[in-house]
Amino acid sequence: MGFKNVIEKFAVNYAHNSMQKSLYNGLNINILDNKINKIPKPDTEYMLYAHVPFCHTFCPYCSFHKYHYEQELAVHYFANLREEMRQVKEAGFNFTSMYVGGGTTLINEPELEKTLVLAKELFDIKDISCESDPNHIDPENLKRFQGLIDRLSVGVQSFSDDILKKVARYDRFGSSEQLQEKLRKAMGVLPTISLDLIFNLPNQTREQLLHDVKIAKSIAPEQITFYPLMKSPLTRDAIARSLGVDDSDNEREFYELICENFSDYHQSNAWAFGRDNANLRDEYVGSHHEYLGIGSGAFSFLNGELLINAFNLLDYGRMVKNHESPVIAKCSFTKKDRLKYIFLTELFDGGVDIAKYNEFNRANIHKELFVELNLLKLVNAIYEENGMIKPTFFGKYICLVLMRDFYAGMDKVRAIFKDDAKIKRSKKLRIMEENTEPNFDNSVISPKAAV
Ligand SMILES: C[S@@+](CC[C@H](N)C(=O)[O-])C[C@H]1O[C@@H](n2cnc3c(N)ncnc32)[C@H](O)[C@@H]1O
Ligand code: SF4
Repeated sequence: MGFKNVIEKFAVNYAHNSMQKSLYNGLNINILDNKINKIPKPDTEYMLYAHVPFCHTFCPYCSFHKYHYEQELAVHYFANLREEMRQVKEAGFNFTSMYVGGGTTLINEPELEKTLVLAKELFDIKDISCESDPNHIDPENLKRFQGLIDRLSVGVQSFSDDILKKVARYDRFGSSEQLQEKLRKAMGVLPTISLDLIFNLPNQTREQLLHDVKIAKSIAPEQITFYPLMKSPLTRDAIARSLGVDDSDNEREFYELICENFSDYHQSNAWAFGRDNANLRDEYVGSHHEYLGIGSGAFSFLNGELLINAFNLLDYGRMVKNHESPVIAKCSFTKKDRLKYIFLTELFDGGVDIAKYNEFNRANIHKELFVELNLLKLVNAIYEENGMIKPTFFGKYICLVLMRDFYAGMDKVRAIFKDDAKIKRSKKLRIMEENTEPNFDNSVISPKAAV
């Protein structure tokens, strides 16, 4: 192994370990006795996140907060979501952008439509993104959302029949051929369609990955996202049972291969590629530093605090109906952690505008992140140019590693709230409680930051 490789490996491990430490050791979740309300700061731009926690099927790698779909339950849930939206409006919030995540957000089209229409009536929302599985993208279904949904990301995961069978999506969503046909028909109905694929699955071959790239490009959606497989204690066993165990970790090699094959695309962030130069943001944590989450298990990031809505559907519904705040827990961050978080999300998105960063954070990045910036420069992960801090190719890979680590932290939060009894036992939980030492392999989860 050459000197450069040794340095890069060291840098990746160092970055990974630091993130793990701050997430696992530093994340204090406070279960709240007293209700806290979400309050807007004047002149702050927020994004609205709405969670739709229903799926027809549960995929082994996925740890998002979800329930098996039942129509009646979903109808009640959407009504509660709209009620929470009205309460947020009364509290004085306004939004220019909305992200609906799941689960499968198009699982009940009429209810989703009512919810999006209301969001546009209440707030100055200019763009809406939603997520779907491939069973709800029939052009006739999608047409009702013209003028409402601007960007729809569709989970494909792989175009290999072998992988689709292993993750139990083949029977539910169709073979690779059938998926391609569904996707081709859906193109052009909404302004932006994004295909979501996962790479570095256990035993995935280089050929399978190149096949995914080729097919995805041939369908020509506006955007293609390649998530690195994220594993956490919540999904590790299910992944091993379905896809097997693989001693080799191809994340770095496959990431290089993906980037090489998308050199004719515009890279919208470390793992998403756009067909044209349009600013196709994906990870809302990257494009919005502050967001408000509504729905069961939704996270909000407001005034430097992570606020967590009730996960249990009945609790959530009762609180909203009683006009009580559905926030059940919160987690505060130090100023330094917030500065690092914003720096990472902007770098992940392509670059940090130094003047804007300093103004927004009332900080001096060169002083406050002195050590971090110099270490990243030393390993050739970032450079400065025209008032911007930009990632090199290696820097983009570090961003990818740190971002998947960040989502692992979110999975830890979900793991705590899966166990109601534990919440009752303890008012203040250290997230470290159930995990002794952070584990330094690829041990993380969940690409879209909510729930
Ligand atoms: C919340 S899911 C919603 C998509 C939709 N329900 C579906 O299954 O097609 C959004 C995307 O996150 C990605 N994802 C979920 N779990 C992941 C994991 N463990 N590692 C990497 N990506 C993951 C998948 O690409 C998935 O399509
Ligand atoms: S990948 Fe989609 S369908 Fe599968 S469990 Fe996750 S949210 Fe549900």
